[in-house]
Amino acid sequence: VDNGLARTPPLGWNSWNRFQCDISEETILSAANSLVSTGLKDIGYEYVIIDDCWHADSRDPETNEPLPNPDTFPSGIKSLSDQIHSLGLKFGIYSDAGLYTCARRFGSLGYEEIDAKTYASWGVDYLKYDNCFNEGLSGNTSISYSRYTVVTMLAPKYRLTLERYEKMAKALNATGRPIVYAMCNWGEDHSWTWAGELANSWRMSGDIGDLFTGYHPWCPCTSLENCTNFGARCSVTRILDWAADIVPYSDPGGWADLDMLEVGNGNMTKDEYITHFSMWALVKSPLILGNDLANMSKDTLEIISNKEILAVNQDPLGIAASRVWQVSVEEGGDIQLWIGPLEHGATVVAVVNTSPTNATVSVPWTDILPYELTSEQPVHVFDLWQRADDAQWGLYLGSLGSSFSFSSTMKLRSHETKVYRLVPQASH
Ligand code: GLA
Repeated sequence: VDNGLARTPPLGWNSWNRFQCDISEETILSAANSLVSTGLKDIGYEYVIIDDCWHADSRDPETNEPLPNPDTFPSGIKSLSDQIHSLGLKFGIYSDAGLYTCARRFGSLGYEEIDAKTYASWGVDYLKYDNCFNEGLSGNTSISYSRYTVVTMLAPKYRLTLERYEKMAKALNATGRPIVYAMCNWGEDHSWTWAGELANSWRMSGDIGDLFTGYHPWCPCTSLENCTNFGARCSVTRILDWAADIVPYSDPGGWADLDMLEVGNGNMTKDEYITHFSMWALVKSPLILGNDLANMSKDTLEIISNKEILAVNQDPLGIAASRVWQVSVEEGGDIQLWIGPLEHGATVVAVVNTSPTNATVSVPWTDILPYELTSEQPVHVFDLWQRADDAQWGLYLGSLGSSFSFSSTMKLRSHETKVYRLVPQASH
């Protein structure tokens, strides 16, 4: 949506993936302080977002204003937001376009205006707006994500989701405060085709889990029960498969959201977290950290602070990479090639190995570049996961020109992803 916000995908942290309902003002402030002390703030992570469960048992009985839980947020939300702002960060909160949130706290359906006004008075800069307990006001809760599957959707019903989300969009606009609007309706009602008109980002799948592969037909999250059931969570590779179809609908100001990051939550290997982080970045998903920032391993911090990968995500063109091929591997999984355009004629290339075995892959560099290669104007190749302090874009590997100095064969460990930035040498 053209509200001047999120012209590149939002970067930040959210409490849900790691802490769920076990949150307090200390949890949130500790995360904010860690963003500063680890240097993550300096490289762009900006929004500190409280997810579900900040709520009191009910609204203020007289004014209907939303109230925070007095035990866990005794200082009030305004004071928390002030402290986050004084660290130079931005503050986000969570509600739901239904009667209740997914964890059964009060929702905003019917209270859009008073809630938006209250959030603005609290200094909220970002609203994540969920979809539980929506009274059946959605057209279809069991759609298939494949664009090749026939989706039965009746237009008037399908507008019901849109109307619920539009009410909050209008209420937020009416406050006059710039508030990033993050729709979380899990792709229901073909929302990838219209959500960008209303919101700055839109969730396209059920909830992510801290797992790399694994299959659930839809990974639904339509009730508290299946939201907290790990078995119903979506894996990284499953979400990425849907994303291949859906991210072409992304645009500056209206991004497909592949869900918050699991990097550092402990159930995946380093290569798997690198794949997760790289691919979310390439397809321009918001990068919302979901780990315990106060207790991170060196590997976790290294992954989430890869500046070259962040630069791909934040590239001003704002065009999601697309999957150009996918080849099944006998043992299961596949090899995928993803390519995307970047500013100044550069290109990002990712090769993903989702299979359980190591693989040797041949990458047709000449097919990747949209123009003729000449030796006068070679294209420099940088590996964004190999560190090189003196180079601008990761490790310089060689050049592609009419005489190739760079091999097309690469070895990938199981579940590894390699990411390259191809930079044309400036023409004279
Ligand atoms: C839904 C959302 C999650 C999280 C929970 C909170 O499942 O999709 O991201 O916000 O609700 O209850």
